Amino acid sequence: MATQEEVFKNLVSHCKEYGFVFPSSEIYDGLGAVYDYGQNGVELKNNIKQYWWAAMTKLHENIVGIDAAIFMHPTTWKASGHVDAFNDPLIDNRDSKKRYRADVLIEDQIAKYDEKIQKEVDKAHKRFGDSFDEQMFRQTNPRVLEHQQKRDALHERYSKAMNDNNLDELKQIILDEGIVCPISGTRNWTDVRQFNLMFSTEMGSTADGAMKIYLRPETAQGIFVNYLNVQKTGRMKVPFGIAQIGKAFRNEIVARQFVFRMREFEQMEMQFFVRPGEEMKWFEYWKQFRLKWHKALGLGDEKYRFHDHEKLAHYANAATDIEFLMPFGFKEVEGIHSRTNFDLSQHAKYSGKKIEYFDPELNTSYTPYVIETSIGVDRMFLSVMCSAYKEEQLEGGDTRVVLALPAVLAPVKACIMPLVKKDGLPEKAREVMNLLRFDFNIQYDEKDSIGKRYRRQDAIGTPFCITIDHDTLNDNCVTVRSRDTMQQVRIPIDELHEMIRKEVDMTNLLRKLI
Ligand code: GAP
Repeated sequence: MATQEEVFKNLVSHCKEYGFVFPSSEIYDGLGAVYDYGQNGVELKNNIKQYWWAAMTKLHENIVGIDAAIFMHPTTWKASGHVDAFNDPLIDNRDSKKRYRADVLIEDQIAKYDEKIQKEVDKAHKRFGDSFDEQMFRQTNPRVLEHQQKRDALHERYSKAMNDNNLDELKQIILDEGIVCPISGTRNWTDVRQFNLMFSTEMGSTADGAMKIYLRPETAQGIFVNYLNVQKTGRMKVPFGIAQIGKAFRNEIVARQFVFRMREFEQMEMQFFVRPGEEMKWFEYWKQFRLKWHKALGLGDEKYRFHDHEKLAHYANAATDIEFLMPFGFKEVEGIHSRTNFDLSQHAKYSGKKIEYFDPELNTSYTPYVIETSIGVDRMFLSVMCSAYKEEQLEGGDTRVVLALPAVLAPVKACIMPLVKKDGLPEKAREVMNLLRFDFNIQYDEKDSIGKRYRRQDAIGTPFCITIDHDTLNDNCVTVRSRDTMQQVRIPIDELHEMIRKEVDMTNLLRKLI
C-alpha cells in the first residue's frame, strides 16, 4: 500500500499529466513556487470560484463584489503595516548557501518531539492492544514525559522569542537544539534577519520620477480603500460586506507542497463591516457559515477542523483557521479574523479622509469593525484534488486512477463517445452534444477503445460518459456510464439534459447553505 507521501507525489504527477497544473515556464526549467493551471485545472478553479462568489454574494443580499487593481498607492502598505511588519525571520546555511525560515526550522523541531511521542504511543498501543489507556500512558511513561517536557520548554522559548521579535534568541534556539541544514548537514548558520515578503517594482517612465510600488500581498486592502466608495454608491447599511477574488503575491522563502504555498496565488476574501461591539456575534456567524460551505461539498466532515489562534495580531480580537486534512497533515485553507477597526482607522489616519459610517438607527457615527473571511483558491483546489484522487484496485486485478470530484466542480460534466467512427455514429454523437453543450462543459472523444476512453475521463473526474451505438440510431437511447459506480444505464436522449443537470447544478449545493 502506498504511503500518503507517495500518493501525494503521484497526485502532483497526475496534475501535470492530465492538464490540471504545470510548473510555470517549464520549458525554461520552471520558476520556484509558481504554477500555471492547465485546461482542466482552470475549469475546476473557475467552478470553485463560482461556488464561493455565489455563496457570498447571491446568498447574502448585503454583500456585493468588487475587482480592485493589483497595484495600489504605496501608502496603502504603510498604513496596513505591511511595509514595516510583513516579515519572515530568515537564516542562511553558509555551507549549502540555502536559505530557511528560522521559525519553520524551529517548528519542524517541535514537530519532531511530537512524532517521537506519537511513536512511543503507537508502540505501546500495539503491545497492549484494546486494553491500552492512552491518556494514562501519556501521563506516566518516563520517555513520553521527557520528550513532552523538552517540547513544551522549546515551544515556550520559541513563542517568547517570536513575541519579542528577538532574532538573536531565534538563532540561539537553533544552535542549542542542534538543528542542522538538511542539505549540508552542518550547523554553520548566519545570524537571523527579517525579510519583507512583498514584491516591489517601479511605476513611472523615468528613473528619477519612478515610484516604488508593491504587488499586493493580500486582496483585502483593495476592499478597505474602497469602503467609502461602495458604501456610498451602493447605499449600503451596516452590517454589509464586500467580496473580492484576485491574485496576491508573496516572496515566500520556504515554498513547498506544490500549490499549497506559492509566490503568486489567488485569494477569495470578504470583509464584513459591523457595529462596534457586535463583532463576536458576526465572527461566530462567519465561522459557522464558512465551515458549512466547505462541508456541503461532501469531501468528508472529519477532514475539517477549526484552529483558534493562540497569539493574536495586535489589531485582532479573535482569529481562527479552517484546516483541511491534506496528505501532509491538517493545514490552513481559510482564515477568519475579527480585525476590529484597525484597517479603516489606519487608512483614515494616513489618507486624512474621514472613513466612518453614520448609523441612522443609533443616530451616531463610528468606524465599523470588520470580520474577514479569507480563503486561498489554490489551497481549496488542492484540498479538493487530494480528497478526489484515488488509485483503485478493481475486480480482476485491474487498477484505475479516478478523480472522484464533486460533480458540480468537475471540469468536464460529460463525454460523448460514438462507439465507432463510422455508420453515422459520429454525426449522431455531435447531435447529442449540441443538445447539451450550451449548459454544460462537454467533451467529444472517438479515439481508442471505449475502455480506454472511460479511463481518460475517470482521470479528469468526468461524472458521465455517454456512448452512442448502432441501436441509438433506431431507439434514440444512449448508454450512460457513471464515473463512481462504473454502472451503465440506457436512457432516452430526451432525458439526458435533466439527468446531468440534477447532478451538476450548483443550485443544489447552494440550497444546502440556507
Ligand atoms: N487578508 C488576510 C490574509 O491574507 P492569510 O492567512 O495571510 O490572511 C489567507 O491568507 C489565505 O490565503 C490562507 O488561508 C491561504 O489559503 C491563502 N494563502 C496565503 N499565502 C499563500 C501562499 N503563499 N500560497 C497559496 N495560498 C496562500
